[in-house]
Amino acid sequence: MRRYAKPIVFIFCLIPLGIMIWDGFQDALGANPIEQITHRTGDWALWFLLLTLAITPLRKVFGWQFLMRLRRMLGLFVFFYVFLHFFIYLVLDQFFDVNEIIKDIIKRPYITVGFIAFLMLIPLAVTSTNKMMKRLGKRWQQLHQLVYIIGVCGVLHYLWLVKADIVEPLIYAFILLGLFVVRVFHQRKKIKKRECGLLTRP
Ligand code: HEM
Repeated sequence: MRRYAKPIVFIFCLIPLGIMIWDGFQDALGANPIEQITHRTGDWALWFLLLTLAITPLRKVFGWQFLMRLRRMLGLFVFFYVFLHFFIYLVLDQFFDVNEIIKDIIKRPYITVGFIAFLMLIPLAVTSTNKMMKRLGKRWQQLHQLVYIIGVCGVLHYLWLVKADIVEPLIYAFILLGLFVVRVFHQRKKIKKRECGLLTRP
């Protein structure tokens, strides 16, 4: 079963895209398909981001070591859905109008923070291979700490774009906060253990 975990999760990660393509062919994307697919890809990007950030807390709290094997794939799906989301904005929303896009990135804070998150995802995706991990060594770990800032940017992006109903972005914000709290708690526990000599330095 363990052998099939990765291919099964891979297929699951593609289901949202499959449903969107199917809805496109069924003409079921509503009156404004571009807005619909922008929102859908944005939602999935945020879900995968929170899922990826949840792996270490789940591992620490429940001892689910097997999740580590899925982390890189989930991280790359974050990049994939954010890239799709940005691609829709670039091509279908802004028709490659670079001037308008630059104006948008400068003027609209939610676009600014979304774009910063996208830019930060690029080096993480590029350095996700085993070869890059070996080559970068300790710097790899430091570089990939960016994922926490990307998480905050993703949630801020959603919070700043909604006009009235902030319930959903707030739910994402609390989930993110919860994941951070678990991390800090376990980090502190580890430091305490080390100070008591119960744990040796890695
Ligand atoms: C980590 C990166 C990003 C994440 C997690 C993300 C997530 C989201 C989410 C959750 C939504 C709202 C969906 C909804 O209403 O249900 C959204 C909307 C949107 N995002 Fe992003 N996004 C990201 C990056 C970007 C980038 C780079 C751009 C363009 C430069 C962008 C442009 C937009 C636009 C135009 C909307 C729709 C706004 C509206 O309805 O008024 N996003 N995004």
